[in-house]
Amino acid sequence: MTKIEQTLEEMVKAETEAKPFNPAASHPSDDEKIGISIRYKHTKIMEVSEATLLKNRLLAFFDHTPTAEQYKILKTTLLQRTAQAGMNTLMVTSTLEGEGKSVTAANLAISLAKELHQTVLLIDADLRRPSVHTLFGLHPSAGLSDYLLNQKSVADLLITPGIDKLTILPGNKRLINSTEIMGSLRMRELVREVKHRYQDRYIIFDSPPVLGCADPLILAEYVDGIIFVVEYGKTQQPQIEKALHILQGKNVIGMVLNKYPRVKEHNYYY
Ligand SMILES: Nc1ncnc2c1ncn2[C@@H]1O[C@H](COP(=O)(O)OP(=O)(O)OP(=O)(O)O)[C@@H](O)[C@H]1O
Ligand SMILES: [Mg+2]
Repeated sequence: MTKIEQTLEEMVKAETEAKPFNPAASHPSDDEKIGISIRYKHTKIMEVSEATLLKNRLLAFFDHTPTAEQYKILKTTLLQRTAQAGMNTLMVTSTLEGEGKSVTAANLAISLAKELHQTVLLIDADLRRPSVHTLFGLHPSAGLSDYLLNQKSVADLLITPGIDKLTILPGNKRLINSTEIMGSLRMRELVREVKHRYQDRYIIFDSPPVLGCADPLILAEYVDGIIFVVEYGKTQQPQIEKALHILQGKNVIGMVLNKYPRVKEHNYYY
């Protein structure tokens, strides 16, 4: 067994031991399911399995587990900082690759969707390395790049993963010339459309790292706020400072310390 497999096994064990998963508590009632089908009658439904959510660390779905509680704290802080200011478009970025932007964006979206009356749209705006669909185990036939390049409509691309009040606009193909496309009029139109069409809705953009390409800097122009992920023990302070310097003048509303080692005696997870 590799170290990663061992860690994952430990994680699953800790999550399930912390509180046995109660499907009735996390699944929508029949009435709520009807609500979903009315609200998303044009949206493709691709049910995500609990095993996929667990395997890909989308642990905010599993109520009352230690990790879900951490995401709840994050969500509550975020709501406090954004709701009154009418901020509903947020992007998640970080300094470098692999620090947990997509996992954080997806968990935050799930956690927000669990909030009463809060609907959430999660957009995979990492045109170079789209991964939100993989995290949810989805196989979209089209994605954001088809909206940007092939004139597909937003409605044609939306997927509901079977989590109440959550909708996903996935990515699919990787784009190399992503920066030009991110800066295109069509991308601006997308943000304008989703922001104004769904004023009551939180829209979370998963994005590439700041030191990787200019895309996040462009995206930062369109959104109301930025959530900046820092990987514990990996990202060096000068790199973080450089990334934050690049984002200077943009609205960084908070930082998430990700992959914080578990402290067993306090039952903290990250
Ligand atoms: N809190 C966490 N604890 C443990 N592993 C994590 C955590 N968050 C993310 N990971 C793992 O780290 C890896 C990278 O996560 P993720 O894809 O979210 O990063 P990213 O910043 O979006 O990467 P990229 O820059 O490639 O888009 C994945 O294997 C993911 O499962
Ligand atoms: Mg990512």
